[in-house]
Amino acid sequence: MNKLAIKIGLLFFIIILIVETCLFLFLYRNLVNTRVEEELTALQIRGDSHRDVLEKHGDETTMEHVVLMESEADTDVLLTAADKTVLYGSADLNSDMEKALMEPSASGEDWKNSPYIWTASPVRDGEKVKGYVYMFKGTDSIQSMISRLNDHFLFIGTVSVLLTIIAVFFLSRIVTKPLLKMKEATERLSAGDFTVKLQMHRNDELGELGASIQKLASDLEHLKQERNEFLASIAHELRTPLTYIKGYADVAKRPELPPAERSNYLTILSEQTSSLSRLVEDLFELARMDQLSFHIEKEKTEIRSFLRKTVEQVQAVLADKKMEVVEDFPEDKVYLFIDLARFEQVTLNILDNAIRYSEENSAITVKVREEHHSVKIAFSDEGIGIPEKDLPHVFDRLYRVDKSRSRHSGGTGLGLAIVKEIVEAAGGTVRAESSLGKGTSIIIEFQKESKA
Ligand SMILES: Nc1ncnc2c1ncn2[C@@H]1O[C@H](COP(=O)(O)OP(=O)(O)OP(=O)(O)O)[C@@H](O)[C@H]1O
Ligand SMILES: [Mg+2]
Repeated sequence: MNKLAIKIGLLFFIIILIVETCLFLFLYRNLVNTRVEEELTALQIRGDSHRDVLEKHGDETTMEHVVLMESEADTDVLLTAADKTVLYGSADLNSDMEKALMEPSASGEDWKNSPYIWTASPVRDGEKVKGYVYMFKGTDSIQSMISRLNDHFLFIGTVSVLLTIIAVFFLSRIVTKPLLKMKEATERLSAGDFTVKLQMHRNDELGELGASIQKLASDLEHLKQERNEFLASIAHELRTPLTYIKGYADVAKRPELPPAERSNYLTILSEQTSSLSRLVEDLFELARMDQLSFHIEKEKTEIRSFLRKTVEQVQAVLADKKMEVVEDFPEDKVYLFIDLARFEQVTLNILDNAIRYSEENSAITVKVREEHHSVKIAFSDEGIGIPEKDLPHVFDRLYRVDKSRSRHSGGTGLGLAIVKEIVEAAGGTVRAESSLGKGTSIIIEFQKESKA
C-alpha cells in the first residue's frame, strides 16, 4: 500500500461510515417509536372497549368476565374504583403497576426503564367517573424487537464496513497503480532513459496522462537524437575550416616564403576565419531564438516599399551577376505588422540564396498578394532548383543540398533555418517549391488576424 491509496481509502471509509451511522440512527428511532405508539394505540383501544362494556353493565359478573378474558392474553387488566383501589385484576398487583396507578393517563415514554407500558380508560356514569380500566402490556416484546434490530444493524454495519474496505482496496489499486507506473516512468525519463513504454489500455484521464507521458518520452528521444546529429554536424562544420586554417597558417609561417605568396595565404586565412565567425554568429542567433529570449518588436509596415528598400541593399551583388529583381506588386498599399530588423534578415537570406544558386543573367521575381485573410510574399528565382528529395530538408539546420559546392560558395546551411524560425515566431508560415533546373520559390504567408 502507498500513501495515496491510504488517503483515498480513509476518506472513502469515513464518508461511508458517517452516512451509514446517520441512516441507522434515523431508522432506529423511527422504527422503535412507531412500534411503541402502535402498541399503545392497540392497548388503548382494547381498554376502551372493556370500558364501553363496563359502562353498560357495571355488575361483578361482567368485571370477572373482562378479567378472565385478559388472563388468557399477553396483556393484563386492572379494574379500579374511582379512588383507584383495585377491584379486580388479571394479575397480582406489583410495585410497577402501583406506580402506574398514581399517574393520570397512558404512558409509553418510560418503556426503556419500566417492564410495562400502560393505558387508562376512565369508566363514567354520566358525568361522574366511577372507576378505571388499566391495561398493561409487558415491554419485553419491544425490548426483544429492539435487540433483534440491533443485531441486524450490527450485521449490516459489519458487512458494509467489510465491503467498503474491500472496495477501497481495489479502487485505490486501480487508481494508484497506474499513477505509480507513471511516476516510475517520469523518474526514468528524468534520468535520461527515454525507452519508456506505458501500456495503459484505458480511455479515462489516467489513460490520457499515460499517453502524454509516452509522447513526452518519444519527443524527448527525438530531441536528443536531433541534438546529437546537430552537434555532430556542427563539429564537422567547424573541423573542416579549422583544418584549412591550420594548414595555411603552417605554410604562411615558413620564413623562405616570398611575400606575395604569404599575403595570398593570409588572405585565405582571413576569409576562412570570417566565414567561421559568421557560422558561429548564426548558431548563436538560432540558440537565442530557441530560448525565445529574442523579442519581436512589430510595426505596421507597408510591405511593398519595405521589400524595395531591402532589394536595394543587394543591388551591388545583383549587378555583379548581371541579375535583376522583378517586382510583381499589387497597386494598393499592403500593410503587415512585422519586426523590421528580423524581417529584413529573412528577406536578405532568401535573396542571398536566390542569387547564389542562380546563373548569370537571370531574374528574381518578388510577388506580393493580399488575399481575404492572408498576405503572401513569394521570392522566385530561375536558378538551379532543389532536388525533390532535398526539398523537405532545406529548412533544417546545417542542411545543404550539395555540400562541396556550397562550401566553396561559403554557405553553412543555416540561412533558411533562421528564416523559418523568425517567420514562425511571428506567427507566419514558410515553404519552398522548386523544380530542378528551372528555379525555386520561397513562399511566406501571414494570416491577417495574427497581425504578423
Ligand atoms: N534558391 C535556391 N535555389 C537552389 N537551392 C537552394 C535555394 N535556396 C536554398 N537552396 C538549397 O538549400 C540549402 C539550404 O539553404 P540555406 O540558406 O539554409 O543554407 P546555405 O545557403 O547553404 O547557407 P547560409 O545561407 O547559411 O549561408 C542550400 O545549401 C541550397 O542547397
Ligand atoms: Mg543561404
